[in-house]
Amino acid sequence: MTEEAATPELWNDPKYRKTLIQMMESQAYRELAAALMFGYGLQFVPSLKWLKFMTWHIREEMEHYEAVVKQYEEFTGESVEPVVNARLDKKPIPFAQSWYELAMAQFLYDRGGFWQLQEYQDCSFHPYRNTIQKILKEEAGHQDLGERIVVELSQSGEFEDEKKPIFAKWLRIGLLSFGRPKTEGNRYAMEVGLKRRDSGEVMQDFLNDIKPAVRSCSLQFPDPATLEMEFPDDLDWSL
Ligand SMILES: [Fe+2]
Ligand SMILES: [Fe+2]
Repeated sequence: MTEEAATPELWNDPKYRKTLIQMMESQAYRELAAALMFGYGLQFVPSLKWLKFMTWHIREEMEHYEAVVKQYEEFTGESVEPVVNARLDKKPIPFAQSWYELAMAQFLYDRGGFWQLQEYQDCSFHPYRNTIQKILKEEAGHQDLGERIVVELSQSGEFEDEKKPIFAKWLRIGLLSFGRPKTEGNRYAMEVGLKRRDSGEVMQDFLNDIKPAVRSCSLQFPDPATLEMEFPDDLDWSL
């Protein structure tokens, strides 16, 4: 049986629907949280050059949110907005309180979201796949700047006191984008092709991706136990 012939029935399976709805709710939350956090952070942006970058970034995150809202409505007939607003009330995203922290957040929160979305790009629910691929193209454009600013500021030596705690804080928030590793939900989502790999494997790719910048900032990874979240045992933290 071809994939095309097999999928529509799967799309009506209650467990499949529930998992897909959870995925879309989480993504909608992350997109809007990003727009809100970067929006709040505008007050810390020191120059026109970076204001242009940040306002463009905020707009794109808002448009990603809008794309997920539309997708969700098509699939469920309902609005995801009340769900997202309730989640933001209960679990607000921390707001960066300085230019340095904003750059760190831009680097690690946005990068976490990018790696997470890549796991959905061959999603067995084809309409979502198209939305993800369009968003991913734009996310690719966000990836370098936050990292560049963080490295530059860290190397200036002016942020020695705050760089460790701010890095640990946003590393944790970035890593939370992937969800808990090795859960039943993970296994199911992979089995039905909603996502590609277990969260632990995505965590590893994310860590490997940020290692060069971590080294350039003369930072170390914090002791994983202090991050208070679940990791696979074989995660490679070496720099
Ligand atoms: Fe986004
Ligand atoms: Fe982004």
